[in-house]
Formats: sequence, C-alpha cells, structure tokens
Amino acid sequence: MKTLKILILSGDHVGPEIMAEALKVLDVVEDSRPDIKFQRDADIVGGCSIDKHGKPITEAVLEKAVASDAVLFGSIGGPEWAGADPTPESGLLQLRHRLDAFANLRPCEILIPSLVDASPIKPELVAGTKFIVVRENCGGAYFGEKHEETDKGSDLWIYERREVDRLARVSAAVARILHASAPKGEVGNKPVVWSADKANVLASGRLWRRATTDIFEREIPDVELRHQLADSMAMLMVKEPKRFNHSAVHTDNTFGDVLSDISGGIIGTLGLLPSASLAGVPGEGSCKGIYEPVHGSAPDISGKGLANPVAEILSLAMMLRYSFTLEKEAAAVEQAVVKVLDTKENGGLEIRTGDLGGKAKCSEVGDAVCEVLRGLLKA
Ligand code: NAD
Ligand code: IPM
Ligand code: MN
Repeated sequence: MKTLKILILSGDHVGPEIMAEALKVLDVVEDSRPDIKFQRDADIVGGCSIDKHGKPITEAVLEKAVASDAVLFGSIGGPEWAGADPTPESGLLQLRHRLDAFANLRPCEILIPSLVDASPIKPELVAGTKFIVVRENCGGAYFGEKHEETDKGSDLWIYERREVDRLARVSAAVARILHASAPKGEVGNKPVVWSADKANVLASGRLWRRATTDIFEREIPDVELRHQLADSMAMLMVKEPKRFNHSAVHTDNTFGDVLSDISGGIIGTLGLLPSASLAGVPGEGSCKGIYEPVHGSAPDISGKGLANPVAEILSLAMMLRYSFTLEKEAAAVEQAVVKVLDTKENGGLEIRTGDLGGKAKCSEVGDAVCEVLRGLLKA
C-alpha cells in the first residue's frame, strides 16, 4: 500500500465550503485505488489562525507542510482581519516560501464551448482559449525587503538570475506539454513561451528579460521565446485571448497575480480557475506542491452555499497529476467536472453555481462530480 500524505488547509470564508467538496472527490479517487491511501491531516491557516494563535500560520503547520507530499489549500482573508499585522494573506506567502513552491501554474481555459456564455468577451474571440500563466511565486516585490511607516511604504522588487532561470525551465516544460496536446493546425512547429515583463521601466524587468533570453539561448533551443511588455500583455489577453493559445506565459510574481485574475475575467468567473504552486518541474517525476484556487475567500458570498467548488476540485486534479503522478485519476476528475457543467444537449448535467448563471449549491456540484467520477473510475 502506498501512503501519500496530504496537509489540508481550508482557511477562511468559502475555503471550508469548497474544500468539503474537493475532499469528497478525493474519497472517490481513494475508493477506486485499494493500493493507495491518502493520509490526511487538517489544520488552520489565515484569519482563523490569527484568531486562535495570534499568527496566520504556526511553525507547527509549516513543519507539517514540509513533512507532507502535498498541501491542499482553500482560501484565506476577509474584512474582519482588515488592519491585522501580520495579515492572514502572509500565512500563504510563508507557506509558499517554506516549501520553495516557486512555480505557480495557473491555467486559463474555456473548458467547454457552452461556457463561452459566462465570458464577457465575444464568443468568437474567446471560444477555445487555452493557455497557462506560469507565475514566479517566491520572489520579486512580494518577498523583497519591506519598510512600513505611517506615511511611507516600500517593497524591494528584486530578482536574481537563478530565480528567473529555474522558472524558465518550468515555463518551457509547460509550453512543451501544451504544444504536444494541441490540435496540430493550431500550433507551429515549436512550443511557445511568452515572457511578460516591464523591461522598459524596471531594472528587475531588464534582468528578467536578459536572464530569460540567455537561458533560452543556452538551454532551451526547442522552444520559441516571445517577449511582451506586461501592460500590453494584459490588454491583448482581453482583446485577443487566443493569441496566447497553447503557450506558457512566463512572468514575475506581481504581474502573474494580476494576469491570472485577468484570466478569471476572460473566463467570466474566478470560480473555475485552479492553480498549482510547485517546487519542481512538471513532467519530471512527482514534486511537492501547494494546490490552491486562484480566487480568494469570497466573503461576499460565503456561508450561503453559493461558492463554485470547481476551482478547488480542479486544483485537487492538479495535485493528483503533479505531486502523485496519478494522471488517469486527474484526467477523470477533469472529465467529471466537464460532464457536470456541460449542457444537457451536449450530454452534460448542466449543474452550475450562480457565477455560471445556474442555481446549484456548492455541495450539489460536488456531489454530481463525485457521482460521475465514480462511474468513470469504475469503467
Ligand atoms: P475574491 O477572489 O475572494 O473574490 C472576487 C470575486 O469573485 C467576488 O465577487 C467573489 O464572490 C467571486 N468568487 C471568488 N471565488 C468564487 C467562487 N469559488 N465561486 C463563485 N464566485 C467566486 O477576491 P477579493 O474579494 O478581492 O478578496 C477577498 C479576500 O480573499 C481578501 O482578503 C484577499 O486578500 C483574499 N485572497 C485570498 C487568496 C487565497 O487565499 N489564495 C487569493 C486571493 C485573494
Ligand atoms: C493569489 C492571492 C495571493 C497572492 C494573496 C492572498 C497572498 O491573491 O494567490 O493570487 O497575492 O499571491
Ligand atoms: Mn491573486
């Protein structure tokens, strides 16, 4: 029997609601694999940890995370901790840093044609959109030296070449995976990485561009590198999202945060967007990771069963794929989600939460995914 250790950190507001659904899905996967035991340990993080321990994450939780094979994360923060020092959000940053989970993969994908209706973008422009933002997750302005006074605040936005280099290897690996699975007519001969920076303004941006260019020339000749200023990239993503199709968007921590929420705008809801914060290169064996939706704790809808659990469930699928190399199970979870969301005309169940125009509760979506998944894993 193989034991895989998972630390469950549900967090605040909708975190525990969406986590409950992901854990039901994990049960179904476990039932289908008598040779695997998911050993789960749950703990607290964020605002609820501030309330209990006076800090957003304790050393004991960080140590548990280090001792686990993967961390499944919900969401943290909320208005009740406004002004808290340290913030609930800093608990997540400490966790990413402690695990050196430097590569944050944030896929932006219109999963099925009928979901174009959720997007504010014209259907012909958005249908078939699929790219992955690869966000640097342990450096830049988030982790540079900070100074805070009543009338002054600063964050040192600093990058070193080795941080850009290791992310470039991940971006190239992601681009290769996307290129290999793309319909042949939709891609050229080489996988593509788009690097987004502000080399026209920031010294750290010029380092980003130099280091990225050098490592692609030196080590990654099989992947085409394109540079784009991050501000115009944001505009192009909305105006013409398919310009980036089947490619990896290689970018720094701050720009990656913003560009991945823009992905939510393209799709029409953050409720569908998963992410994986990895401590290694995808496709090169299993690596440790934190699996977390792109969205936050959604305090505006929490406590009412209105949250869409799909971002958390798809984050779980990423965990199965990248930390446990359970590709078949990961793909089955994704297939089950598609079936639950798809229209009845397309053979789906059309069970959707309010952010997608539906009436289903969070738990109804979770239950439906489990039911479909059970059938898929039995087959
Ligand atoms: P948010 O992502 O929580 O919400 C933005 C909008 O998207 C809201 O209208 C919300 O209702 C909606 N939304 C988010 N998740 C949804 C879901 N699963 N289903 C349906 N709708 C969903 O962003 P915010 O309101 O700016 O931030 C709220 C709090 O979350 C803040 O404290 C912020 O710092 C924190 N935050 C945490 C994380 C994290 O835990 N990883 C990420 C982002 C923001
Ligand atoms: C995200 C969030 C986090 C970030 C916060 C909560 C620390 O916005 O995961 O996108 O800024 O990275
Ligand atoms: Mn964010």
